[in-house]
Amino acid sequence: MRAPVRVGLLGCGNVGSALARLVDEHADLITARAGVGIEITRVAVRDLSKARDVKVPSDRFTDDAASLVRDPDIDVVVETMGGVDPARALITDALRAGKPVITANKELIARHGPELFTTAAEAGVDLLFEASVAGGIPLMRPLRESLAGDRIHRVMGIVNGTTNFILTRMSEDRMSFVDALAEAQRLGYAEPDPTADVEGADAASKAAIIATIAFGARVAVDGVYREGIAGITEDDIDSAASLGYAVKLLAVAEELDGGISVRVHPAMIPVHHPLASVRDAFNAVFIEGEAVGELMLYGRGAGGGPTATALSGDLIDAVKNLVSGAKGATIGELVDRPMLEIAETESQFYLLMEVADQPGVLAAIASEFGEHGVSIKSMEQRGMPQSSDPEGGVRVSRSASERAKGSDDDARLVFVTHRARESALSATLDSLRSVDSVHRVGSVLRVLGDED
Ligand code: NAP
Ligand code: HSE
Repeated sequence: MRAPVRVGLLGCGNVGSALARLVDEHADLITARAGVGIEITRVAVRDLSKARDVKVPSDRFTDDAASLVRDPDIDVVVETMGGVDPARALITDALRAGKPVITANKELIARHGPELFTTAAEAGVDLLFEASVAGGIPLMRPLRESLAGDRIHRVMGIVNGTTNFILTRMSEDRMSFVDALAEAQRLGYAEPDPTADVEGADAASKAAIIATIAFGARVAVDGVYREGIAGITEDDIDSAASLGYAVKLLAVAEELDGGISVRVHPAMIPVHHPLASVRDAFNAVFIEGEAVGELMLYGRGAGGGPTATALSGDLIDAVKNLVSGAKGATIGELVDRPMLEIAETESQFYLLMEVADQPGVLAAIASEFGEHGVSIKSMEQRGMPQSSDPEGGVRVSRSASERAKGSDDDARLVFVTHRARESALSATLDSLRSVDSVHRVGSVLRVLGDED
């Protein structure tokens, strides 16, 4: 019987400790599937005094991560510490030392993936990162292997569990944004710095990784357009629901004429769309391929258990390859493709505005849309909300000139447009703001999954 493969674990927080427990609790089946036992031999953390819910003996812990990577008694490195530094240098050192690496670190792969893929290829060892995108959902392997023969046109999905959890709780339980975020943190869904979730940076990293693999292109994460959910109010969610839409934070990677567009932003999607029913910390990814057509992958996108499952699958793969002397699938040659600006993309739009409730106002507004080639799909007039705060609970606060123009007799108009260029919509908004009878342009949200 071969001696167990010795794993060095970098980080033992939500994800690392869940992996240590899984390796212990599923030892028999992991041994059977890997063909050899797997042992967590050393663990690196920041604070050695913290209590950890794992069965790894305390003398295997160190606060010297570099020594773990250099240790000749470590065969494989699993990185769950997060962040770019020192993870980047540690992983590079491990790969150069011929040790396969498994990581859950989406920020690192999004920023330095191509460099690390090259290092792994040169060293002839595996660098696997299934856990970095969409937690427990198998996504990297399907894109890299199962769909490798198809041309992928678009990937659209909910890839951040924390924000989906917050939007679900706000919509279903009237929970405040702050309380819902605190609950997501307590459940281990949020990033160590949760602004990465709320402001869309986590989803942008995942979108960059998805686009890199799906299109075989070098996708710089800084080129990914992003908006988070901090500006989404209960009013937006209610208004969307009354029109038959759900508000979700979406990541979109698509091939368009002239290049690729990768973006993250909140969007309204029709309630009958499969992504609309994805609740809580669940994630789902919609893939559109030339030959395969549409397919959707769904599951738990965050949390220790699901993420540890993805890590353990990669670990078993890497161990099998290590033992047999083989090497898993590589990313292949990445090409450079133009990244399109958000202004060059198209979608439908939802707009809410407050206007003077007088004859001729609608015609003046409609003519501004027409002027910029934006076609209106539907319009609804609503009364002003009762007993609202001065901001009326909508996203864009009133400027002094807007306040000067407003009155209690205003009406609220809600528009949904047909597909239009983002640049045309921006020009329409600029013009609308200068129309006297338009007292305020409130929320503006993209609408996806309807006409696209
Ligand atoms: P976490 O709970 O904050 O755990 C991070 C761990 O890394 C802690 O044990 C910490 O040590 C250790 N660590 C950090 N810096 C270190 C350093 N310089 N040297 C040694 N140890 C260090 O974070 P997490 O939620 O497990 O996330 C870890 C990674 O998984 C991140 O890349 C994250 O993006 C990714 N991820 C998370 C989830 C999720 O649902 N949470 C899902 C998918 C991917 P101490 O415990 O001593 O502080
Ligand atoms: N913070 C991330 C999320 C963890 O909420 O989706 C999973 O990558």
